[in-house]
Amino acid sequence: DKGNHKHFMAKEIHEQPEVVGHTLAHYIDMVGERVALPGKLPFDWTKLKRLSISACGTAFYAGLVAKYWFERFAKLPVEIDIASEFRYRGAPLEEGDLALFISQSGETADTLATLRYAKEMKQHVLSVVNVTTSTIARESDVVMPTLAGPEIGVASTKAFTCQLSVLACLALAAGRARGHLSETDEKNLVRALIAVPRLMSQALALEPQIEKLSHDLAKVKDVLYLGRGTSFPIALEGALKLKEISYIHAEGYAAGELKHGPIALIDETMPVIVIAPHDRVFEKTVSNMQEVAARGGKIILVTDPKGAKEATIESLETLMLPEMASTVTPLVYAIPVQLMAYHTAAAIGTDVDQPRNLAKSVTVE
Ligand code: F6R
Repeated sequence: DKGNHKHFMAKEIHEQPEVVGHTLAHYIDMVGERVALPGKLPFDWTKLKRLSISACGTAFYAGLVAKYWFERFAKLPVEIDIASEFRYRGAPLEEGDLALFISQSGETADTLATLRYAKEMKQHVLSVVNVTTSTIARESDVVMPTLAGPEIGVASTKAFTCQLSVLACLALAAGRARGHLSETDEKNLVRALIAVPRLMSQALALEPQIEKLSHDLAKVKDVLYLGRGTSFPIALEGALKLKEISYIHAEGYAAGELKHGPIALIDETMPVIVIAPHDRVFEKTVSNMQEVAARGGKIILVTDPKGAKEATIESLETLMLPEMASTVTPLVYAIPVQLMAYHTAAAIGTDVDQPRNLAKSVTVE
């Protein structure tokens, strides 16, 4: 049932404040403002030397965000690779370390194969899945469910932000256990997470502006997405979402890579979507935007009031989100990129929920 929405994807985008709220409530003691993982872990965070993360597509981008969090909060070295590469690389993994798998369906063939490889390499296996009866869930030592509910649209939306919610809680739990987060740090971070559903509702309020903008995006051939830090995976996710449902060619890049190649693409016809909350790398992203502006690129800036004030760049359009703790920006900034993809595809008239050549669950490699 699509409710009042034209597509499942639209419904699922709009469900995010609710399902992210549910998911967070499953991992957080709301009264004590602390992370409280359900169940006991069969490993000790302090004994781990390395965390290996593996997944495909959008789930991989959630893992990429988590890498920044685990390294920052828990000082735990993280290796991450797409499952189709990880499974054949023969990566050496030290016995007793932790392997983390992320999958909405829990049936993705490459992710499952990598999980089996990790088990052979005597890793503890933890999975973040949406379908708890799935093969990946069954074969894991511990399962941390996302409470997104069934995701029908082929393009993943609410599963992604629920994955980020679980991964943030896991990174905080690891940070606490490893002695790198004080009680106050944890409280502040947990409060920031608790604010996410409300911030997501504010992000959804940008929809009319995004819909209007998407009519112009629907006419272009290529789009570039840029971001730094945890906004880099959101740039990748924005590009993936756009290409899969609108069939417009899009690329996501780490903003710092711009001058190592993609800057050659920039001209007056090229929209460049810059994901740039006012965080510790904001200034760096501004200088990349200047490089784009100097070549006539059309900048669509997704930022907050502080960022908009300091950007001092002629942008075609600014999508303004509220100010928020930098840790939670990937969860909230995911929404405007999802809406841009959705409305661009809707303007073109593609089959948003069933894009050509794609399957919801990729059970063959
Ligand atoms: C993108 C998308 C795919 C999946 C990928 C992994 O919108 O849906 O990239 O994220 O196929 O699927 P799961 O999470 O089921 O393992």
